[in-house]
Amino acid sequence: MEKLVVHGGYKLKGTVNISGSKNASLPILAASLLTDESVFIRRVPDVSDTNFMVQIMGQLGASVERFSGNVRVEAKNLHSQATYEQVRKMRASICLMGPLMARMKQCVIPLPGGCVIGDRPVDLHIKAIQALGATVNIDKGNLIISAPNGLTGATIDLRGDHGPTVLGTDNLMMAAVLAKGTTVIESAAAEPEVVDLADFLIKMGAKIEGAGTRRIVIEGVEKLHGCTHTVIPDRIEAGTFMVAAAMMGEGVTLRRICEEHMLSITELLRQCGHTITFNDKGDTAVVESAQTAKPAELTTAPYPGYPTDMQAQMTALLAITEGISVVKETIFPQRFMHCSELKRMGANIKVANGTAVITGVNQLSGAPVMASDLRASAALVLAALKAEGTTEIHRLYHIDRGYELIDEKLLSIGANVERLVDEEEQ
Ligand code: EPZ
Repeated sequence: MEKLVVHGGYKLKGTVNISGSKNASLPILAASLLTDESVFIRRVPDVSDTNFMVQIMGQLGASVERFSGNVRVEAKNLHSQATYEQVRKMRASICLMGPLMARMKQCVIPLPGGCVIGDRPVDLHIKAIQALGATVNIDKGNLIISAPNGLTGATIDLRGDHGPTVLGTDNLMMAAVLAKGTTVIESAAAEPEVVDLADFLIKMGAKIEGAGTRRIVIEGVEKLHGCTHTVIPDRIEAGTFMVAAAMMGEGVTLRRICEEHMLSITELLRQCGHTITFNDKGDTAVVESAQTAKPAELTTAPYPGYPTDMQAQMTALLAITEGISVVKETIFPQRFMHCSELKRMGANIKVANGTAVITGVNQLSGAPVMASDLRASAALVLAALKAEGTTEIHRLYHIDRGYELIDEKLLSIGANVERLVDEEEQ
């Protein structure tokens, strides 16, 4: 296993290229199983989550070729059983349900189980596929789904207790594109990654309207064809580097980003006094740290609200921002694993009932810390950039799930980091 050793206190300056979106790539890779023709997907980040998805697709019978950020998929002969060994590594493999049901009319998918950010139910995914006429049984931890007569369009409201479901919306869209008749998704997720999937499906010949709103209408078609698609920029990676620049920057430029996808993130950082200047095209931004940063109150919400995937990173910034900040997590109320580790570095954070009350301190101190989930780990890297002394972040694989070459990118803007073999964690 590897660890990231971060020597704190180095100012950041220069330009970093943001990768394609992990969370757009995963459902788009799954959707490429909907046709037996060749599909070419560009700017797929080389992270372990996309690698797990590529492996699972190969084991389902698709031929998948990967080079320089591109993925070519040809799913001529598929079988439809993913094994627990594969799925347990990545919860997002649940989004194979839609394509496998649309193409094969039956599938066996292990229940993904929970993870450190909280329970990860799939009741809305099951409700959706049942509404299209499938039967769903649970046996030995597997979802056994079948629709021998194919799927038939229906109207489904996908709202859960915590709002819309991103992968649930993706799954239903991918199942509906080859179903008989019309499917209407009410309370649909509107994330840019859902819109990117819809754009990809439309390029394959699907009939979809309303992606990006709470109501999506899908007209089933007979067959889908191959296409070429470039994945949107990763707004969460971009937000993570904006926070790094806000913490330690002396003028960091981010390239290959999308201003429109980051409005809630940039608005919050500006409210805290940091300067973010985009170019006319909105694909490049210069971030400058505030002279005197201000505390904030934030509540995570479904898009276009402030994203839960940027909550941990902002908590790290607020931990070293003078004053009292309040962070309310409404999507995954337990998503505060980063706080206990940040407190080991000297942060003053009280967490209760899905809310963190942060009293900013003027300095953190480096310490050995443990990565736990993808975004909590990113928050520890950010804190370490600012902290006095050296921080060792163990179980680096959590970060490698969703950040492509994070050490190389940080080094390119002046951070002093080293990716080392972790003797303590073989
Ligand atoms: C996607 O997960 C993202 N993952 C997550 O990013 C992100 O945090 C999440 O959306 C919310 O924005 C990918 O896109 C691969 P949800 P997803 O279904 O779709 C509840 C990261 O760091 N729910 O939108 O699995 C659920 O418990 C990851 O990149 C049900 O109740 O999340 C949560 O409270 C972490 N029943 C809320 O809905 C269901 O059937 C939103 O979850 C499904 C979800």
